Amino acid sequence: MMASETDTQSGPQHVAVIMDGNGRWAQARGRPRLFGHHAGAKRVKEIVRACKPLRVKYLTIFAFSTENWKRTQSEVSGLMTLFRQYIRKEANNLKKEGVRVRFIGDRVKLDKKLVALMNELEELTAHNDVVHLTIAINYGGRDEVARATKRLATDVALGTLKPEDVDEETLPKYLDTHVLPDPDLVIRTSGEARISNFLLWQSAYAEYEFIDTLWPDFSDEEFSKIVASFGGRNRRFGAVPA
Ligand code: FPP
Repeated sequence: MMASETDTQSGPQHVAVIMDGNGRWAQARGRPRLFGHHAGAKRVKEIVRACKPLRVKYLTIFAFSTENWKRTQSEVSGLMTLFRQYIRKEANNLKKEGVRVRFIGDRVKLDKKLVALMNELEELTAHNDVVHLTIAINYGGRDEVARATKRLATDVALGTLKPEDVDEETLPKYLDTHVLPDPDLVIRTSGEARISNFLLWQSAYAEYEFIDTLWPDFSDEEFSKIVASFGGRNRRFGAVPA
């Protein structure tokens, strides 16, 4: 879905976040990297809560990339345990607060217990509509486009889709994010100005905000400042300003 120039909301409806810097935050305190990830998970809780008053209806966060498997086995398994704990601990709060949770990324490689919890949380919150939280786990933008293309090609082979009907409207229907609007704003913490394979197709017209703060230090206050400053920008989607 494309954001349109006629949106009445001036702030971003959909914010995507690359939560970077947990490891450095922990190292600066002489603690193991996982300590930083735990602190990062606490921030996730708070930032999700901050969305409603800021009228951010969609929040999409990058929790684990297709490249993150290259980290040490202990960090990877620590993160997977943290995801399971987060889902178990937060499920009822999320439901109560009206948060609809979705997961994007390839679930095939993930631990079955984790996938079961992800499915349960999606079902548990399926009727919520206050804030839509999408968590990217084993997600990569290129991988997503490749998986989408595979499904699209299958439909062509089956004859349910004609090659001449494939266009910019058709392809995103096969992406993991097919029910979400495109992000208006992408924030990356910790001073790196890269997008690291996050929402490649979807962020074609997004604004980017690269900030130095490490993710565990990212405050509600900084979040609201960034969201507020977005309102003042003039987004043209390639057109000439009126
Ligand atoms: C990047 O920091 C962060 C990650 C790869 C993990 C993100 C996970 C969380 C914020 C915690 C849990 C999330 C949920 C949804 C419960 P880094 O480790 O690359 O930091 P560094 O660049 O300083 O090493």
